[in-house]
Amino acid sequence: MPSVFIKTFGCQANKSDSERILGDYLARGYKETQKWQDADEIVLNTCSVRQSAEDRVRGFLVNLNKFIECHGKNKPKVILTGCMLHFNEIEIRKLLPDIDEILPIAEVGFNQKAIRKDKVSAWVPISTGCNSFCTYCIVPFSRGRERSRPMEDIVKEVNSLVKDGYKNINLLGQNVNSYGLEKSGINLRKLYMDKNNFSGKSIPTNQSQYQKPISIPPFVLLLQKISQIQGIEKITFFTSNPWDFWDELIEEIATNSKIDRFIHLPVQSGSNRILKLMNRGYTRETYLSLVKRIKAKVPDVIFGTDIIVGFPGETDKDFEDTLDLVKQVDFKVAFVARYSPRPGTASQRLYPDDVPAKIKKQRWEILDQITNKDNLKNRPLIP
Ligand code: SAH
Ligand code: SF4
Ligand code: F3S
Repeated sequence: MPSVFIKTFGCQANKSDSERILGDYLARGYKETQKWQDADEIVLNTCSVRQSAEDRVRGFLVNLNKFIECHGKNKPKVILTGCMLHFNEIEIRKLLPDIDEILPIAEVGFNQKAIRKDKVSAWVPISTGCNSFCTYCIVPFSRGRERSRPMEDIVKEVNSLVKDGYKNINLLGQNVNSYGLEKSGINLRKLYMDKNNFSGKSIPTNQSQYQKPISIPPFVLLLQKISQIQGIEKITFFTSNPWDFWDELIEEIATNSKIDRFIHLPVQSGSNRILKLMNRGYTRETYLSLVKRIKAKVPDVIFGTDIIVGFPGETDKDFEDTLDLVKQVDFKVAFVARYSPRPGTASQRLYPDDVPAKIKKQRWEILDQITNKDNLKNRPLIP
């Protein structure tokens, strides 16, 4: 029986994909090995979010080659998948000559049976890809456009998870709030930006001015359907973004006790100038007003976030604005990342990476200290 070792880099989206890649291998008669040294095939499920993540893939291949040389072993077949597929095949082969095969993750599909190690909480993908194009981010290039998984398939998987004894479900997508809308032609982010006059002068802080194009967001419907399944005790979702956090969703969280009180709401920066350069689609005022509206309806809510320090042109004043916002919201979990220019993204093309590494490190340390590090293990969409 041939053996496979899957090495997963990156965030929970990749970890979840790896569960289905393993399912695919086992279905084809492979067995899993816990040691890459013993494997006939090695799958590298890669991350590209920062340069350091890509460097780790290269580091793994260096170790692999050393091991093969020292032990006179046959080289295992090495398959590359995951987010480094934003490079084209020629670029990948130049960068990583040891790769034997390239596997786009879409080929594995949403419905392939996942082999889960976690027996308490199950990760269930509801969408993949992203249409938001924040200027710093490689994800829309590495994972492509947003694609939602049909609601019936998700409900079917949750039903079978309940039969396997799972009580906690973590719904996973780069932007779960826009679940199910990509084919409707409704661009929530654009609507939100237009309503809030993001590109103009006046920026209203009341999000209710943002008119809803449909009566009930499909994501809310999905939450309702899953919480009606007998046996489900807790539903958590990752990640929501501030621009499409509708009143219906707040209402659903407030009234549905099965929904986790923890909400991960990436802010990235507290400076309006930087938020605009990032193309995030909201301002610090609209973000804070959303937090206030959620806190009013869900008093026991706990917020988590992602922040990037050292985005091009970030001044001390911009950073102070971020510190101020962080203190106001009182995040219980914050993942702070130092800006890393990613090839082909708008920020890499348009703005020089001009914040010195030393300053990035200082800002990172300050923010890291004031946010609760103990909870970092709960942060799924970050490598
Ligand atoms: N869909 C989620 C997560 C995307 S990637 C979201 O919209 O928030 C996870 C995190 O990595 C981001 O939230 C961001 O904080 C960080 N990140 C993305 N690109 C980065 C870059 N070029 N440099 C540093 N951090 C980055
Ligand atoms: Fe999409 Fe999130 Fe990346 Fe923005 S940060 S482009 S929302 S994955
Ligand atoms: Fe991909 Fe997740 Fe990394 S979406 S780029 S594996 S952070």
